[in-house]
Amino acid sequence: MINKKEDIPVFLTIQPKVLYFGTPVALITSIDKNAKTNIGPISSLWALGYNLVIGLGCDSKTYQNIIEIKECVVNLPSADLFENIEKISNLTGLNPVPANKSGKYRYEEDKFSAGNFQPMAAEVVTPPAIASCPIQLECVLQNHYIVESTIDFIPLIASVHMKVVNVRVHENLVINQDYIDPSKWSPLIYNFRHYYALGEKVGKNFRADV
Ligand SMILES: Cc1cc2nc3c(=O)[nH]c(=O)nc-3n(C[C@H](O)[C@H](O)[C@H](O)COP(=O)(O)O)c2cc1C
Repeated sequence: MINKKEDIPVFLTIQPKVLYFGTPVALITSIDKNAKTNIGPISSLWALGYNLVIGLGCDSKTYQNIIEIKECVVNLPSADLFENIEKISNLTGLNPVPANKSGKYRYEEDKFSAGNFQPMAAEVVTPPAIASCPIQLECVLQNHYIVESTIDFIPLIASVHMKVVNVRVHENLVINQDYIDPSKWSPLIYNFRHYYALGEKVGKNFRADV
């Protein structure tokens, strides 16, 4: 059916200052060559099969650690952890603080303490996981490429493809052995720089097994 012109809502052409349209928050734990651990909050990520693709600023300790060590844990916090995440959101593990973050961010070598997070050993990869995050995806680097650079070719943003090699899930969320119960899991959503939990369930896909 073709809409009548008066049925079509009014749209504005704008240049949004923020384009974070609502993706889950993840906390990436990584280590550097001196085994110093770091936590990087991110929200630019998607999963298909056992692949994760993550958008990372190249001037982050997280990106540099992943490129160097080729491993990380992608920890998924539940919605109630947003205050811990905000405690570390203006921190970087890079020292000195990169120029474009100066004045807004400060160096912190122990983000676990700063955010009141407890490390726990991962099963397969070397970086630790975060005990309070109910879903932990242990990953190895598969590939990466630069998405955006400065005019003098300094890398700004990278797309990082990680292979998920081991998945750890809090026992309360596991159903039928190898499924995560969507009625119990409460992801934290980053919606135009505001934190949200999910609303009510509105339906299910024809392929949903549980
Ligand atoms: C909720 C949230 C989501 C973020 N998403 C991303 C992201 O997807 N990619 C990214 O590179 N930085 C993202 N950031 C910013 C990084 O966390 C920030 O650059 C931080 O300083 C990185 O820490 P690091 O330098 O110790 O790795 C996000 C920050 C917050 C609080």
